[in-house]
Amino acid sequence: MKQSAQNWGISVSEIRSVSAVEILDSRGRPTLLANCQLSDGALGRASVPAGASTGAGEALELRDGDPQRYGGLGCLKAATNVNREINAKLSGKTFGDQGELDSYLNELDGTPNKACLGANAILGVSLAFCRAQASQRSTPLYAHLARMAGLSPRLPLPMINLFSGGAHAGGQVAIQDVQIVVPTAQTIGRVLEVTSDIFRMAADLILTRYGMRLLTADEGGLAPPFESSEVMLQAAVEAIESAGYRPGEDVALTVDVAASQFHAAGRYHMDDAELDASQMVDRIASWTHRFPIVSVEDGLDEADWSGWRSLSKRLAEKTMILGDDLLCTNPSRIQRAIAMEAANSLLLKVNQIGTLTEALAALRLARGAGWDVVVSARSGETEDDWLADLAVGWAGDYIKVGSITQSERLTKYNRLLYLEQMEGLTLSG
Ligand code: PGA
Ligand code: ZN
Repeated sequence: MKQSAQNWGISVSEIRSVSAVEILDSRGRPTLLANCQLSDGALGRASVPAGASTGAGEALELRDGDPQRYGGLGCLKAATNVNREINAKLSGKTFGDQGELDSYLNELDGTPNKACLGANAILGVSLAFCRAQASQRSTPLYAHLARMAGLSPRLPLPMINLFSGGAHAGGQVAIQDVQIVVPTAQTIGRVLEVTSDIFRMAADLILTRYGMRLLTADEGGLAPPFESSEVMLQAAVEAIESAGYRPGEDVALTVDVAASQFHAAGRYHMDDAELDASQMVDRIASWTHRFPIVSVEDGLDEADWSGWRSLSKRLAEKTMILGDDLLCTNPSRIQRAIAMEAANSLLLKVNQIGTLTEALAALRLARGAGWDVVVSARSGETEDDWLADLAVGWAGDYIKVGSITQSERLTKYNRLLYLEQMEGLTLSG
């Protein structure tokens, strides 16, 4: 019997059934919603997000491939895998904790990247079981997750999307996201207030300059036809100033370059320029000198390990060198990055690896190396808010959810506001 289960005063959780249905994400594309019912009646339900600028090393998201439905993106096969094979194996089976369930799911799948049952099917069940156990124990999800990880919960600082380009906005400029952080804020409430002021100013600026109202991208970021990535960064600084805040003091910027999206054959197609890796590193370094950038995500291609190493050498002392596609929340890739000193921060996306247990292993590795951790949503999200609880329960330094304008994003921010005001959680823990 598991020690962790005994600590709850509940020996084990017996699964009565698991099930899944195909639903739509915030891009109007199919994804999965999964249920897990325990034998004592406790029910957990969770929806699975989906990316667009996905890393090649991500676990496999099973899509139907039937061009007659949703352009091949249907998730009926993944839902059927939950309803038939996974349900047949899990129902009546007993698990002490999340780790036992997740390794059983991995064994059932039998492939290194969850290609057989699908990472979307497996993650849906992993998350739904987690919620069911939290409910069985009458514990808020964040507290259950904190206990599972052996961590003290605390609120993460949001990195909030202001402007978008790249794969989330039709590629009008190379950089995918320019985000703001409010490091001086004492509360999530204040972070959102400041963000809203800046967002309003940014929208006005776009109206004046480009003659258009809110033209938003996948994560709700403003996406006018900026002339270049640098113009986008400059506009962010202007919006911060017009809202009455000091760039670099009250409010800083973070960028997701998502460079894999514009890299081919050793060249970075950065807006109008064609750069090699060292020129790309120079370009990013020059941005960090000219703009108040505190974090650079995916500054180089996911396979350009030597480029990452030079970027880290150059900037890691002062700047977060944040790995998304490079690391794919995958413990072996993270280990390599730690050994090579290729990054200093982890972007944690649970669906890149496909179970909570493996995502926790990724988090622990990153923490062991002294890295910062950013818990992140996907560009295709749902109205589910489990990510906010995960970021709190696993004590993420930051949460990256997108803009403040779309409900699939706001449900996470609103959950943080709720936890701050009703559960008394704070940014400092
Ligand atoms: P994705 O984008 O969900 O489309 O991968 C988010 C990110 O790149 O951080
Ligand atoms: Zn990214």
